[in-house]
Amino acid sequence: MPGITVPDIVRMKADGRRIVMVTAYDYAFARLADEAGVDVVLVGDSLGMVVQGHSTTLPVTVDQMVYHTTIVRRGVEKALVVGDMPFLSYQANRDDAVWNAGRFLKEAGAAAVKLEGGVAISDTIASMVKADIPVMGHVGLRPQAVHAMGGYKVQGRGLDAQRVLDDALAVEAAGAFSIVLEGVPAELAARITGALKIPTIGIGAGSDCDGQVLVMHDMLGLFDRPSPKFSKRYADLGAATIEAFRRYGDEVRSGKFPGDEHTIA
Ligand code: KIV
Repeated sequence: MPGITVPDIVRMKADGRRIVMVTAYDYAFARLADEAGVDVVLVGDSLGMVVQGHSTTLPVTVDQMVYHTTIVRRGVEKALVVGDMPFLSYQANRDDAVWNAGRFLKEAGAAAVKLEGGVAISDTIASMVKADIPVMGHVGLRPQAVHAMGGYKVQGRGLDAQRVLDDALAVEAAGAFSIVLEGVPAELAARITGALKIPTIGIGAGSDCDGQVLVMHDMLGLFDRPSPKFSKRYADLGAATIEAFRRYGDEVRSGKFPGDEHTIA
């Protein structure tokens, strides 16, 4: 059992402690995130873009998500591991949704699942919660709805704010233990955070959320496409990696590597 539990995350809001969440997709980086003390490791379906190279998250399958959640789980001792449910794994019917969600706990060892949507999927969230599957909601900019939204666009401006608030309230009423607010104006995120008892975890939602999440490849400079404005780069591992590969290539070509110290006598 990992150290941080679902009730611990809920309590963090009451205690005024901010929640730190980051995505990871494999053992190596999950272990590093855990060692750094993040509270929640999210195996995001963003892996469709940053790991698989697709232009959206839509092609990702449940089998792929369960596989990545399994290898992340092996690297984590303390953080809460949350598996992201991919497009069409929970929207079509409730029974399939519960079975698919259950796979993340049963096969991959996650403690919870995350799914996108509000009012429209609140019954599905309630069915999962009834089956003792903890659910993290996700409202506002929903990447799986990229075509319905007409692109990756900020949600909840002006009169549309009430719709996003209603979605968040529906997710809480359905029994979710926390909720991601993505791509919403900071003022609306603050209003939602004040209205909900469950913690809000923001990405592009300002500083008043109860926690923050970033996509690992954006924050470490590992993605080849421009990062969103709201993301912050904390390291440039992309440049460091290219430099390491270059030096290796130079040394192989010049005969410097392997030297005597890397040679079996
Ligand atoms: O898939 C993902 O990485 C996410 C985060 C951006 C919250 O849903």
